[in-house]
Amino acid sequence: MKIVTIVGARPQFIKASVVSAALAPACDEILVHTGQHYDRNMSDVFFEELSIPRPKYHLGVGSGTHGKQTGEMLMRIEEVLLAEHPDILLVYGDTNSTLAGALAASKLHIPVAHVEAGLRSYNRRMPEEQNRVLTDHISTWLFCPTQTAEDNLKKEGIEAGVSITGDVMLDSVLHFLKLAKANPEKTAIYEQLGIAPKGYRLATLHRAETTDGGLPAVVRIFRAFERLPEPVVLPIHPRTRPLAEEAVSKEGFRNIRLIDPVGYLEMLLLTSGAKQVLTDSGGLQKEAWFMEVPCVTLRQETEWVETLVGNWNILSKLETEDILDKALHTIPDPAARGLMPFGDGAASRKIAAALLSQNN
Ligand code: UD1
Ligand code: UDP
Repeated sequence: MKIVTIVGARPQFIKASVVSAALAPACDEILVHTGQHYDRNMSDVFFEELSIPRPKYHLGVGSGTHGKQTGEMLMRIEEVLLAEHPDILLVYGDTNSTLAGALAASKLHIPVAHVEAGLRSYNRRMPEEQNRVLTDHISTWLFCPTQTAEDNLKKEGIEAGVSITGDVMLDSVLHFLKLAKANPEKTAIYEQLGIAPKGYRLATLHRAETTDGGLPAVVRIFRAFERLPEPVVLPIHPRTRPLAEEAVSKEGFRNIRLIDPVGYLEMLLLTSGAKQVLTDSGGLQKEAWFMEVPCVTLRQETEWVETLVGNWNILSKLETEDILDKALHTIPDPAARGLMPFGDGAASRKIAAALLSQNN
């Protein structure tokens, strides 16, 4: 069986690392990197650290407006599919790379497998919501991380090909956190940053909804971070970097430690050691939950509603006082952690088994 897998953005490299490993023994998987993320610390570092197979195709699409970026990907992925004739096209999540891959394959009648199907924010202004809804509606196999995701699909009339596998990000956390903790080169991150476990908070910011508010929005968030009692470590996504640097140069913000994006192993260590996470990232909200680190989500809604139970995750407006209030006064309830809504850490094996059992 031949599977073409499309990846392009940081969280997709992480998800593909565990699924590709599960597929490897029994299938010819061809990895295609769209080039959506291209800085070394947004791309290559993940391939090296997580032993992801080298992409056979690197499409070099890079950044651009949604139409330009998605259109370029669509054209170049179509060429790959025409050359490779795969049995299945595999995509992850909800980025422009996901939609371009699914659309290119669907038009060529190549069945699409979607990992992380059924997620919904019910905010149609989000580019990710558009990408995931469209991808789900043209997929043949829809691998849902949670029961909620399956329910969401049902509401849209999608039942065929749907299965709940659990979340591949749980698989990757279970696998890589152990490796990170055992690697002194990686655990040195605490000393390098001059922070002690549970003596700092960890933040990330990259959503369009956050950066679309421009400098004033970032300043409002940073004013809250500045007033927190522990330093805030902020590995800065390149989308947010110019605004973050401008905010720091204008207002000082001595409590915020802006650092370059880090590799996944260091990120897992920073997350597991944090007193609290503050983020607009989808993946990081869940990783905080997996590691029992309280999270404040800097968004109006979340797709990962399971994390909200018992206040382990709480939504905050992008307003200084609301962020401070949520960060300082939210007490998570240990009794709320009874259920494991994200599966048992074997999602990637289940996905691989389902795909390999197809008689294409
Ligand atoms: C994309 C996804 C988002 C996902 C995120 C993961 C879409 C619509 N968005 O958002 O769902 O959560 O990836 O991180 O697909 N840039 C660089 N170097 C890079 C990559 C980006 O400088 O290696 C800068 C460019 O200025 C670019 C901007 O970041 O225009 C945004 O990058 P883009 O890939 O369009 O969106 P993300 O915010 O990364
Ligand atoms: N991540 C990382 N280094 C960083 C920031 C994030 O390895 O400097 C990881 C993080 O642990 C998570 C994933 O990137 O696994 C989340 O990606 P991102 O926030 O960019 O996208 P989202 O999950 O919101 O789509």
